[in-house]
Amino acid sequence: MTKEFRGFAAVSNVNLKVRRGSIHALIGPNGAGKTTCFNLLTKFLPVTRGRITYDGRDITAMKPAEVARLGLVRSFQISAVFPHFTVMENVRVALQRQRGNSFDFWRSSSMLKQYNDRAMELLADVGLTQYAELAAGQLPYGRKRALEIATTLAMEPQMMLLDEPTAGMTSEDVDRIVALVKRVSQGRTVLLVEHNLKVVEGLCDRITVLARGQVLAEGDYASVSRNPEVIAAYLGEDPQSVGAPETAHV
Ligand SMILES: Nc1ncnc2c1ncn2[C@@H]1O[C@H](COP(=O)(O)OP(=O)(O)OP(=O)(O)O)[C@@H](O)[C@H]1O
Ligand SMILES: [Mg+2]
Repeated sequence: MTKEFRGFAAVSNVNLKVRRGSIHALIGPNGAGKTTCFNLLTKFLPVTRGRITYDGRDITAMKPAEVARLGLVRSFQISAVFPHFTVMENVRVALQRQRGNSFDFWRSSSMLKQYNDRAMELLADVGLTQYAELAAGQLPYGRKRALEIATTLAMEPQMMLLDEPTAGMTSEDVDRIVALVKRVSQGRTVLLVEHNLKVVEGLCDRITVLARGQVLAEGDYASVSRNPEVIAAYLGEDPQSVGAPETAHV
């Protein structure tokens, strides 16, 4: 994929292959093109050149909603959290949207019960059962991200794209999100952008390093973190800090 913004190549000939069922990380310095790749994959932005296939299908010309319906879902796409709705209502709205019924308040109570039951299941999946009746706006920050993952799961993604799921979290919240991503990755594919290399190390099967819009390296954590070019891209950081970095911002 190549994406140019008025001649500036934010993403340049990036050949990215994400294997079904894997947890794949996209890392790299600020401005490397990671979020732009997500925008291209989910069709929020058209590619300037290149081709995107998903599950054997060419999706290059598709619209974001079509791609989402195929199961390729990006977390923030549907995760808008309504602060005055309860945590449970937020998930229910996501479920109703998934079924394409935006005006189904007159629907049968058995239908509503189905949504409620499924919403509670999803909340249990992300560890938010105890917060179900709380207004979403009142959730602690780390739990809000868990709610975003629940609303993403409501879309029944086959492949989830998570852009910095642990950004700005305390280490306790980070551990919880890592466990959560591990759990929800069962039977799914996950592509995540993550600055916390400890998270990447603990979670990801494969890592692609981007720098200045290009793929700099790809492989498992051990090989990528030893790659001199990768280390050099982490300006001002010595090789050790690449391996041990709660604080390292790639
Ligand atoms: N809509 C746009 N118009 C012009 N330039 C853009 C646009 N979106 C991104 N860019 C530029 O493309 C480059 C890549 O940006 P991108 O947001 O993809 O980086 P990133 O790897 O996600 O960085 P970060 O780690 O800071 O989130 C940057 O130089 C950015 O300024
Ligand atoms: Mg980004």
